Amino acid sequence: MAATISIGLAGLGNVGAGVYKNLERNGDLLAERTGHRFEVVRVAVRDLGKARDVEVPAARLTTDWRDLVADPAIQVIVELIGGVTEAHELVKSALEAGKIVITGNKALLAEHGHELIALAEKMDVPLYFEAAVAGGIPIIKSVREALVGNHILAIYGIINGTSNFILTQMARRGIDYRTALAEAQARGYAEADPALDVNGWDAAHKAIILAWLSYGLWVRPNEIVVDGIENVSAADIRLAATLGYTIKLLGVVRLHEDRRIEVRVQPTLIPSSHILASVNDVFNAVVVHGDIVGETLFYGSGAGQNATSSAVIADLADAAHNLAKNPGCQGFLPSGYYGQAVTVDETVSPYYIRLRVEDRPGVIAQVTSVIARHDIGLSSLVQPKVEGGGPADLMLMMHAAPFGRMRAALGELEKLSCVTEKPILMRVENFA
Ligand SMILES: NC(=O)c1ccc[n+]([C@@H]2O[C@H](COP(=O)([O-])OP(=O)(O)OC[C@H]3O[C@@H](n4cnc5c(N)ncnc54)[C@H](OP(=O)(O)O)[C@@H]3O)[C@@H](O)[C@H]2O)c1
Repeated sequence: MAATISIGLAGLGNVGAGVYKNLERNGDLLAERTGHRFEVVRVAVRDLGKARDVEVPAARLTTDWRDLVADPAIQVIVELIGGVTEAHELVKSALEAGKIVITGNKALLAEHGHELIALAEKMDVPLYFEAAVAGGIPIIKSVREALVGNHILAIYGIINGTSNFILTQMARRGIDYRTALAEAQARGYAEADPALDVNGWDAAHKAIILAWLSYGLWVRPNEIVVDGIENVSAADIRLAATLGYTIKLLGVVRLHEDRRIEVRVQPTLIPSSHILASVNDVFNAVVVHGDIVGETLFYGSGAGQNATSSAVIADLADAAHNLAKNPGCQGFLPSGYYGQAVTVDETVSPYYIRLRVEDRPGVIAQVTSVIARHDIGLSSLVQPKVEGGGPADLMLMMHAAPFGRMRAALGELEKLSCVTEKPILMRVENFA
């Protein structure tokens, strides 16, 4: 007879409802595979009167998640309320009560992961978070378990579905950022407030978690470079395409030779021939380079009710195994084998610059002399034909240089009298 695992589910929104529904749907399969039945015995929500697409007996509902933590019968708490402050309090109290915790909350982990993992270790209970990075793609388990024998040399990820949808639509249809964002909202891909998706921070939270898993180092949010897609224009996408590049919001986590770690999330030009360039719409993909395994690729749905609840259910199976066979075991936890974060100014890459300039003689000489003064190599300069006079775009592809040097050059370029708008700077990633 399958033993029952009693779950307290905090949050019955998009993901929480998916967990509830899919545990019912595949309960028999799970019982056969894991030897356990998973029963959601209490559910915390904010609003008891809200219409929902899952039917939960009224007696199981509460508006106070503390009821879940205080219930001695509950063995596992699933935190899916989102946000940071209250979720932090919830996860902390659940761990302190000795309960296994599962969360999909990347913002919480990026901000408080250091403290929460230490607390879980101290209390000798596991904290699982497969759903926190790339939704349904099993990237946490893969890095944590399957690739444990590798030095992770680099991780490259398209890890925000909303931004990827927007950039895909802009590239396919030549539409501008605002129109593509409105479409993402109309289709339910972007939140009413899409800030964290489009400003790069949702992806950055995930990159911070991947960096910790790979290197045992919690990089602080102020140590990483994060730019969103708000300033990417249809013109940049078109111009990049003429040079054989596709613009993606790319998360990069990379090990330097001195064992320091680089973490950044920025709109980046990647070769259109690279496999990540064909990851379109709301899909996510993560490339992991290990020193033994070489290159591995993970692709799938990075968000959404079913995909994300699949990841939570995988954590529930681990929790059941833990309770039955190995109570208290944390599994592999990365430690501080590697060093500190690389500062932004030290990060090196090639760059793309678009300058809007007056269309008159001498402009190119002024621009190239600034670049030469900062000792940065120029690999190509293109000036697309301007119809009927007026300002022109200059598109420059620069050789690899430290960001600090590039930033100084850009500051000078911006001040040139011939430059009429704030220059656009983007990284180029050749995956070398
Ligand atoms: N959506 C995705 O595709 C996705 C993917 C990966 C990870 N995640 C993460 O999963 C978490 C949940 O996301 P979601 O999209 O499911 O959010 P959501 O749809 O906004 O649902 C949040 C749920 O939490 C409840 N809630 C909020 N504050 C509460 C409180 N103080 N006490 C009790 N209940 C509370 C809400 O109650 P009411 O229903 O009564 O308002 C709602 O049911 C977030 O951390 C998110 O980052 C989401």
